[in-house]
Amino acid sequence: MNSNSSISMERKRYNVLPVVCFMLLLTFTDILTITSANLDQPETYIVHLNAPDGVKFDTPEDRQSWYHSFLSASSAGSNVEPTLIHAYHNVFTGFAAKLSANQVKAMEKMDGFVTARPERVYKLHTTHTPRFLGLHRNLGFWGGSNYGKGIIIGVLDTGITPGHPSFDDKGMPPPPAKWKGKCEFVGCNNKLIGARDFISSSPLDEEGHGTHTSGTAAGNFVNGANVFGNAKGTAAGMAPLAHLAMYKVCGIFGCPDGAILAAMDAAIEEGVDVLSLSLGGASIPFYEDGIAVGAFSAIQRGIFVSCSAGNSGPFSFSLSNEAPWILTVGASTLDRDIRSTVYLGNQALLDGQSLFQPKDFPQNFLPLVYPGSKGGQLAAVCAAGSLKNIDVKGKVVLCDGGGGVARIAKGQTVKDAGGAAMILANEMIDGDTTRADAHVLPASNVAYDAGVTIKTYIFLSSSPVATLIFRGTVMGVDSAPAVASFSSRGPSVASAGIVKPDIIGPGVNILAAWPVSVDNSTQTKATFNMISGTSMSCPHLAGISALLKSEHPDWSPAAIKSAIMTTAGRVSLSGKPIEDERELRANIFAIGSGHVNPSKANDPGLIFDIQPNDYIPYLCGLGYTSKQVGVIVQKRVTCSEVIPEAQLNYPSFAVTLGVGDTKSFTRTVTNVGVANSNYTLTDVDLPVDLALITEPAMLIFNKLNQKLTYQVSFMRVNIGKVKAPYAEGYMTWSSHKHSVRTPFSIKFV
Ligand SMILES: *[C@@H]1O[C@H](CO)[C@@H](O)[C@H](O)[C@H]1NC(C)=O
Ligand SMILES: *[C@@H]1O[C@H](CO)[C@@H](O)[C@H](O)[C@H]1NC(C)=O
Repeated sequence: MNSNSSISMERKRYNVLPVVCFMLLLTFTDILTITSANLDQPETYIVHLNAPDGVKFDTPEDRQSWYHSFLSASSAGSNVEPTLIHAYHNVFTGFAAKLSANQVKAMEKMDGFVTARPERVYKLHTTHTPRFLGLHRNLGFWGGSNYGKGIIIGVLDTGITPGHPSFDDKGMPPPPAKWKGKCEFVGCNNKLIGARDFISSSPLDEEGHGTHTSGTAAGNFVNGANVFGNAKGTAAGMAPLAHLAMYKVCGIFGCPDGAILAAMDAAIEEGVDVLSLSLGGASIPFYEDGIAVGAFSAIQRGIFVSCSAGNSGPFSFSLSNEAPWILTVGASTLDRDIRSTVYLGNQALLDGQSLFQPKDFPQNFLPLVYPGSKGGQLAAVCAAGSLKNIDVKGKVVLCDGGGGVARIAKGQTVKDAGGAAMILANEMIDGDTTRADAHVLPASNVAYDAGVTIKTYIFLSSSPVATLIFRGTVMGVDSAPAVASFSSRGPSVASAGIVKPDIIGPGVNILAAWPVSVDNSTQTKATFNMISGTSMSCPHLAGISALLKSEHPDWSPAAIKSAIMTTAGRVSLSGKPIEDERELRANIFAIGSGHVNPSKANDPGLIFDIQPNDYIPYLCGLGYTSKQVGVIVQKRVTCSEVIPEAQLNYPSFAVTLGVGDTKSFTRTVTNVGVANSNYTLTDVDLPVDLALITEPAMLIFNKLNQKLTYQVSFMRVNIGKVKAPYAEGYMTWSSHKHSVRTPFSIKFV
């Protein structure tokens, strides 16, 4: 595909609907006129260049003036001057500029032009942005690590709140000597060492999201964080002694990838060690995906990149950020509920959650009503104004989730209509993933099944009654971790031969820093908030990788990923395999390798390492052209060597097997555990119709950092027993001290 057709493809993607309509209404000449008008309409393009052979730029200014030569040449004969928006120096050779399609066309003829595409706009991966709140989060994960001391985490987000207690620099050393970052507002210190804006005018957080994700990754210890004054504790991020640098890339309209690339460009230059991106878009080939391209430049410099998997679950093929050099993080529940229990007149008790926990809610039964039973669709979901003609005064009102109405807004509608309390029942797709929201009235968000139970009770009872029992913070919920309903699921679209997501981590009802706000009902100043999303799980993993990087400065980004993945947990606190929102065993496309276990990741035994150049034959194997691969790896590439995706030295496998197929792949493991150690396959979980052979059967190590290669063959056997197209399993290499688990998915075709 040449650069020209890649541009028109992108444009088509955005124009599909209008073009279809035009076809119906307009003649062919009309279409031509419209198209040529669009060709002069400027929009933001990301332009990739290759410096001519032998050309070296002495300064960034020299490079930038070369970029300007493209803009000048492209503007000849057009009445609108192109404008440079971002000049890139590290992330790749090229720039973002406001250009018309005709100007891009003119540029294509110039020596050094590689490709250009319209900018994409990504979105934040939070499911919900409520008001306020505080409580502590302290999972005790730090073990023997040093709290991320000396590591710099760069967060690309909506900005940050300087002066927040989570970003106090008590106990923090000055930034490492290598740090070259900037602070574009007042309020940086030894914790928040950099804050830059690529979107508006100031890195200040006007949204809350960036303050929350930063606090989760590396917030300092804050004593006495509390919710409504009743749940006191110490709040802290995953790497409480790591430094933070904020790169603001998101505004009210989203997160343009031109700005994301500019931020990554700066972060590489300034010296960050870990990048955390809680944002993304729909799947797209890696060479057109700004995050994938920028992340590749980052890992070439040894910078670890953690990204959210997306909130488009529970549907399959719904992932963002699928590149194998990125850690793709799904979301799971914590073992903590902010419990609000529904007590029905028939004595049934159904646990739910709410952040608003009134102390004085009367414990006598109140009439219970479901507006949906008479009032229709809108009343069922408690849409604004829908309860006007329904008597809900002084009653407990059951509302269905969804219907395009925000959860807190449903409560407001019930309250405005005089309701005493709300039970918010999940939609079927949300299963038992319940949220502790800052509701405006006494409330309880219950699972889908509980909602069905309550409706049945209402239907069968002549005078249904209920009340709510507020139990506050309950720890030890043993279904945790469970996959959140919204967590995006694989298989990967961009690379079906790599298992994604890689890992799950806490992302439901996460308490972390928030810009100061006032709760109108209690006038409590809250500097913490509880929100949910893979946006929240991603910075957990960014913080944990900072801990690992601090402990193991010589580990590559791929080695850190491997350590996190091969040691991940498979079971919940109850000892049963991790479940999803349906209370069914979660599959590999929901949990990847499993739930992160930081202290085990600190001592993985073996690692599956990958050097940046190892991705070249893999990318060629995806069917990308040499030029497309060059856009990603930032050099001229000829696709001479090609490997299947599953041959990349990844800590998991995604294999497709036809009838009678046997497929063999090799893996190379590096011994980072005990010098003299022997590994054998101890725990192999095989689906029906699959046989597996490894060669050799034992890996005998006699020194540290020794590398050994083994071959694994997946064989389809007993044809005919297979029911589903996908099956999964895992194999575990074990020594006396370590277990190294690699899961695999099999697609039977
Ligand atoms: C809270 O109070 C402020 C100031 O009195 C007001 O502007 C705001 O709309 C209130 N918010 C809500 C959710 O009631
Ligand atoms: C590993 O296996 C070899 C060969 O069987 C044996 O000689 C050696 O003692 C074993 N090493 C350890 C640490 O178990």
